[in-house]
Amino acid sequence: MASLVSSSLMSPVRLCCLYLCSRASRRTLSANGLGQRSLCPGEGAAALCRQTNSPWWNGSRGFFSRGGGAGEEQQTLEDIAKNIRERQFKRVVVMAGAGISTPSGIPDFRSPGSGLYDNLQQYDLPYAEAIFELNFFHHNPNPFFALAKELYPGNYQPNLTHYFVRLLHKKGQLLRMYTQNIDGLERLAGIPPDMLVEAHGTFATATCTACLRKYEAEDLRPDILRGTVPKCPTCKGVIKPDIVFFGEELPHHFFKYLTDFPLADLLIIMGTSLEVEPFASLAGAVRGSVPRLLINRDLVGPFAWCRRPQDVVQLGDVVGGVQALVDALGWTQELDVLMAAAAEKAATKTEE
Ligand code: OAD
Repeated sequence: MASLVSSSLMSPVRLCCLYLCSRASRRTLSANGLGQRSLCPGEGAAALCRQTNSPWWNGSRGFFSRGGGAGEEQQTLEDIAKNIRERQFKRVVVMAGAGISTPSGIPDFRSPGSGLYDNLQQYDLPYAEAIFELNFFHHNPNPFFALAKELYPGNYQPNLTHYFVRLLHKKGQLLRMYTQNIDGLERLAGIPPDMLVEAHGTFATATCTACLRKYEAEDLRPDILRGTVPKCPTCKGVIKPDIVFFGEELPHHFFKYLTDFPLADLLIIMGTSLEVEPFASLAGAVRGSVPRLLINRDLVGPFAWCRRPQDVVQLGDVVGGVQALVDALGWTQELDVLMAAAAEKAATKTEE
């Protein structure tokens, strides 16, 4: 077991950096706020694959899957479904990003045109990602709180992708869901908090940026929904929801990956660009023999530059992709019942 953990730790170079950083800006901010260049290991690994003459490297066209080596058949969505259904896969890890919440009406970050980062003009930011940067927040917290008002949990409902993960848990086959999302839809769908790693934090708790006093979501809710910046009653410092900003450390929960990923027998990645570290590197933290299923509009991360033989890609709308998996699993009716019950519960709550 120990060697499994350490060998999986060796491969994803980026996991040694546990401060949030973006591949696009290629910067990390250390705890004291000093800018540093960071390795962009996605590119580093691609270069390594090229140097080692990987059979998956297809010259200028990048990496491709060659459909399995001798005695190694290319896996399909149906194969994955069969293995889940027959409980060969009992420890499924799910990684998710903003793309699973776009069907609920929440924009993602990087989709050209519709993504949040293309629609922040009114905030007069020096560059889009500044909205999640600590230095900028200390200078001007207003843009973040305007966005927080928009994204605040309670305004949106989970969709089929969230309920699929809950069903996986109900079947006893979810090892953990790692999400980058801060919209709280996983919890709202009924995925138990201990099954979740909210890698980029949560609105559920908050901290005063001056005296570090802790607050609950309820303490901030009125201010956030009114569009005002919440201030600490004790020291008048700005209270920041515990969302992880670029340059901040990830929550200690994130370290669960050290034991979860070596145990996983299937990794499902959905609705993420895999552009933000160290989360993106988790895609490389499962054992080499473990199938990885990408359900996403675009080919991203290692699926684009260093695909493994047993990787499966379901390109297109995430709801359509998850529905295809659910149909292949024979779980359609069960998921419908689960979602209908959740919708009824939400409607009753609204009436109350
Ligand atoms: P991105 O916006 O970077 O990526 C979303 C991915 O989902 C893209 O590949 C989209 O093509 C895909 N997508 C969107 N809608 C889809 C749909 N309906 N069906 C299929 N695919 C769809 O979002 P994340 O990867 O989550 O940080 O971004 C990571 C982090 O960057 C976020 O957590 C955020 C941001 O800076 C913080 O909030 C701190």
